[in-house]
Amino acid sequence: MYICLCNGLTDTQVAAAVAAGARRPKAVYEACGGRAQCGGCTRTILAAIREVAARQPGPLGGVWFARACPAAA
Ligand code: FES
Repeated sequence: MYICLCNGLTDTQVAAAVAAGARRPKAVYEACGGRAQCGGCTRTILAAIREVAARQPGPLGGVWFARACPAAA
């Protein structure tokens, strides 16, 4: 499913970028060879970051990113 129409990014590409360490929408765009354009996908990308980051081990048991980053709430 396409998440970012401006850059043609699918949910699979976004999930892979987040799993590889992208923790901001800008980092996701860059990891996928794109850039921020209309911003219409920002909330969806932030949700993907929260979801994937929550599954990865962190210093507070896996939910560290969602709690540490107000923009991701
Ligand atoms: S839909 Fe992603 S930047 Fe426009």
